[in-house]
Amino acid sequence: MNDTSLGAAIRKTMLTANPLAKVMMTRDLVRRWRAGKLAFAFDVAMPDAPARPEKPELLPPNAMPRRGRGGSERGRLALLHALAHIEFVAIDLALDAAGRFGAEMGRDFVDDWLSVAADEAMHFSLLARRLRTLGSFYGAMPAHDGLWDAARETAHDVAARLAVVPMVLEARALDVTPMTVERFLAVGDERSARILQRIVDDEIRHVRFGTTQFAALCKIRGESPADLWKTLVQRHFRGLVKPPFNDSARRSAGLSREMMAGVATPQRPPHTPMHEMAGGSDQL
Ligand SMILES: [Fe+2]
Ligand SMILES: [Fe+2]
Repeated sequence: MNDTSLGAAIRKTMLTANPLAKVMMTRDLVRRWRAGKLAFAFDVAMPDAPARPEKPELLPPNAMPRRGRGGSERGRLALLHALAHIEFVAIDLALDAAGRFGAEMGRDFVDDWLSVAADEAMHFSLLARRLRTLGSFYGAMPAHDGLWDAARETAHDVAARLAVVPMVLEARALDVTPMTVERFLAVGDERSARILQRIVDDEIRHVRFGTTQFAALCKIRGESPADLWKTLVQRHFRGLVKPPFNDSARRSAGLSREMMAGVATPQRPPHTPMHEMAGGSDQL
């Protein structure tokens, strides 16, 4: 049977609010795509925003309770919850990339972003299960409502989408996750540390998909990747691209130091309050 379009299957998955159902549908969609059971057709529009479950409550970044820096168990639970939410939104971001730009970009692009969607579904599941093991669950705490802004802001142009979502937001995980792994190891939570290590390894691949596709687009458009990236980040990303960067992970993902120098936010004194978004997290 080849009567279902990939676009329709993606739209249906994005409009599914229940986290477990979204994970199952994403896995099923990717399996059907790989088995040749979904037509390479995009006959429906992608939703402006995906469906969200009733819980977690979504708050603007500046209204998020502070997670605190210490090694308290509550603080670590809140961190795992924030990361689970990021992975949950990342499922829809990857699906949206495939569904919105697939017709224009072709099958390899769709293969890449659907494999990312499958990874994000797995990352979310690992974190949601970890939360349960620790006596909590996804939805138990409020979560950050800003993560879909980047998708909205870049819905008109695949180059802008790649410049902001994989190349800025997902790349941020490469800088901060190794420190988070250390934090969990320091308190003896090896299982959480292992999950986060797995995530960061996968994220390098996600960023690499972004940089590779972006470079190919620049070639077609006759633009320099470093210059176009800088322009698009300045135009479409409102957050900060702040060092220190994990140079080696970024290099493996295709982001050279020269590329980073072009987009990095100049460092201000550490007491500048806008440097810390309370409780918010801008990585994916
Ligand atoms: Fe992820
Ligand atoms: Fe990712």
